[in-house]
Amino acid sequence: MNPKKLLPGALACCLLSGAPAAADINVIPRPAQIARDADAAGVALGASHIIVCADAALGRVYADTLFERTGLRLPVHPAAATAAGRPVIAVDCASLSTDSHVAHPEGYALAVAADGAVRVEASARAGAFYALQTLAQLAARDGDGDAARVTLPVVRIHDSPRFRWRGVLLDEGRHFFGPAAVKRLLDSMALYKFNTLHWHLTDDQGWRMEIKKYPRLTQTGAWRVSSPTPGNRDLPDGVPHGGYYTQDEIREIVAYARQRAITVIPEVEIPGHSSAALAAYPGYGNTDIPGYAPAVQTTMGVKPYIYAPKEETFRFLRDVLDEVCALFPDSPYIHIGGDEAPKTQWKASPFAQKVIRENDLKDEFGLQSWFIRRVEKHLNSRGRRIVGWDEIQEGGLSPTATMMVWRDWKWARLAIEKGNDVVMTPHSHCYIDYAESVEGLPDDPYYEHIGIKRSGNRPPRLLPLEKVYQFEPIPEGTPPEREKQVIGCQANLWGEYLFDWNRAEYNLYPRLFAMAEVAWSPKAARDWPSFQERLPAALRRLDQIQANYRRPDGAPARPRARE
Ligand code: ACM
Repeated sequence: MNPKKLLPGALACCLLSGAPAAADINVIPRPAQIARDADAAGVALGASHIIVCADAALGRVYADTLFERTGLRLPVHPAAATAAGRPVIAVDCASLSTDSHVAHPEGYALAVAADGAVRVEASARAGAFYALQTLAQLAARDGDGDAARVTLPVVRIHDSPRFRWRGVLLDEGRHFFGPAAVKRLLDSMALYKFNTLHWHLTDDQGWRMEIKKYPRLTQTGAWRVSSPTPGNRDLPDGVPHGGYYTQDEIREIVAYARQRAITVIPEVEIPGHSSAALAAYPGYGNTDIPGYAPAVQTTMGVKPYIYAPKEETFRFLRDVLDEVCALFPDSPYIHIGGDEAPKTQWKASPFAQKVIRENDLKDEFGLQSWFIRRVEKHLNSRGRRIVGWDEIQEGGLSPTATMMVWRDWKWARLAIEKGNDVVMTPHSHCYIDYAESVEGLPDDPYYEHIGIKRSGNRPPRLLPLEKVYQFEPIPEGTPPEREKQVIGCQANLWGEYLFDWNRAEYNLYPRLFAMAEVAWSPKAARDWPSFQERLPAALRRLDQIQANYRRPDGAPARPRARE
């Protein structure tokens, strides 16, 4: 649609890429269509404004968010009739408009008029919620205390996302951060229009989710006796580390995410990365191999412990996954891992070899595929689909699985060709646990990073901000009719060396903002110079909430954790 059609004649039109800075607006991710009157003075958002929204709960979300961002507490009314001449923020979240952005379940139109009236149109709650996030970013606060003025630019925006999976992976298998950190992340994700939290809750170094039927998963599996010493990975620190989410806490976090239009997708690692589960219930592992002694791991890296293909193991996994499905009722997908599952134990296990023979499987890779298909069948019977890391193609890709691509783009091409959906998270562009650069990294073991000190002459693994920004999720050569199989992309925050949430924020920001724009904005709207101009406002918002982040020179905004 041509936004010019919507504009009074005097409005200048700023569309997409290369827009002049004056006509741009301080919003990340950059909206699909912006028409701004760059000459008009900003309109004041004042205490006389009133929010009109038929959905009272959504109206309150508007009021609360604007209060948090601006200090203005605006009243909410269900119908315009009560507005009595006061300027209105009118929110229609059930619009029947055929405008492609408004009709999109996550899209919206937002107009700020010169007389101070604000109008939001969306066909569903998520779109109205995203309009609010845009509005919250548009509201600029000048001055302090009583002298503060909150202004909005005169602008019309039409906006909807490019991708339907806009994800962030949070790894708590390696370090447990706790509910307050997760909520802080969800707040930030909402402001930048991410809609998927991929919550990595089980790994070799810890199992973080209460499962009622198997209490040892957290009694034993959530705790390790020691971790690598920051700055010296060969030296155990001798300090126990652990923690887990109770089912009540998980339900609360899922509800908190839902209010913010975010779906939480849990990951239960199968068949590898399972040391912590096997430390709790050793019988589900390959007990028939020499030296079998699973323990919650005290060092990072890939470990050999892998579930055994026994009927009792499948019963255990079915029981666990049934509780997981109940805890995450909104999630159409369950992530079943599938990555980095060394085959050494299956090679050495007479029982695993018997299963391979009896089921006419080619080898251990065939066994992995057989294993995952059994788990998939169960999840399908519970109305869920599986997502797995790109190793799930080893031994044959299930036609109904969604592949999360983290290694080579060739796996994306293979899955797309076979008709599978893919989520793009290649480590080259999406692993924000990598450092941005070596220069500027604080000389402090607390800021140790994965992939910096590598053996031999291998260069450090780095991921600069601009590389995230330039990430194109659709693999080159994808036929246009298959582009829709790329359902989205994701920033992955692996936690091996993230010792607490303050440290994690240093890796999140500002690269999270770049990924937000990759996931949401039309490709043609992405513009690196424009992004750099909009970045300082986003960093100021981080200062307001006392978040840590990486400054452009590499220095941390908050070098050490809050006490
Ligand atoms: C992964 O990074 N092992 C998915």
